[in-house]
Amino acid sequence: MQPLIAGNWKMNGVASQLHEIEAVAASVKATLPSTEVLICLPATLITRAVQTAAGRIAIGGEDCSAEISGPFTGDFSSEMLKDAGACAVIVGHSDRRQHHGETDAVVAAKAKAARRAGLLAIICIGETNAQRLAGNALSICGDQIAGSVPKEMTASDAVIGYEPLWAIGSGQMPTSEQIIEMHAHIRACLTQCFGAEGQKVRILYGGSVKPSNAHSILALPQVDGVLVGGASLKSEDFLAICRAAPALNSPTVNSQKEQ
Ligand code: PGA
Repeated sequence: MQPLIAGNWKMNGVASQLHEIEAVAASVKATLPSTEVLICLPATLITRAVQTAAGRIAIGGEDCSAEISGPFTGDFSSEMLKDAGACAVIVGHSDRRQHHGETDAVVAAKAKAARRAGLLAIICIGETNAQRLAGNALSICGDQIAGSVPKEMTASDAVIGYEPLWAIGSGQMPTSEQIIEMHAHIRACLTQCFGAEGQKVRILYGGSVKPSNAHSILALPQVDGVLVGGASLKSEDFLAICRAAPALNSPTVNSQKEQ
């Protein structure tokens, strides 16, 4: 599978930081032409980042409404993200699940909306520390797959982001064995829900990915890419992570953007 290296700037970034996008795009184009690179940004930056990236890397959003339009002040639809130039969107990030009370059903509706607009949905799941300590990490993630991934999903319009909440922004990392166990379980759940299509869906690891650990994470055969928060804000760090990815065929998301 073509690995996907995705950044998530979260609520960070103004115009003066677009030079980080330029630096990543220039270096990916020059030295990593077959690595699939995506940076998900606050909606306010998308159009300018798309102009800066100029098709060299893909640009995405961090959330979308499930609705197309209407009286939802402050929200924006997947169609609006597409119109702004995005080719992907994160849905169900734990920040949204925790701070905005998003349930699996809401996340599934948003993933469906992403598909409707022709955006790649990065559907995030992951257990809390308490759930892991109680021995429920596998079942929690299995339930989140069953509840958050729309039935009509295909491998070309969705990827899964496995992000244990206790690893996000904490510098705490699961062991390789824990990542292998979780990704293998998620693969089994996807296959159970979606048959052969479920075998093709990429599963990204997210949570404290850094230049220093990216090689060992991306070397695991169960890992099809990474979702990077803090370390995506600095082009130097993010590029070091991109360089850790084994490059295979031509990128899907980038070419989706260029169409
Ligand atoms: P982190 O965040 O890399 O800063 O841990 C990952 C994420 O929340 O997507």
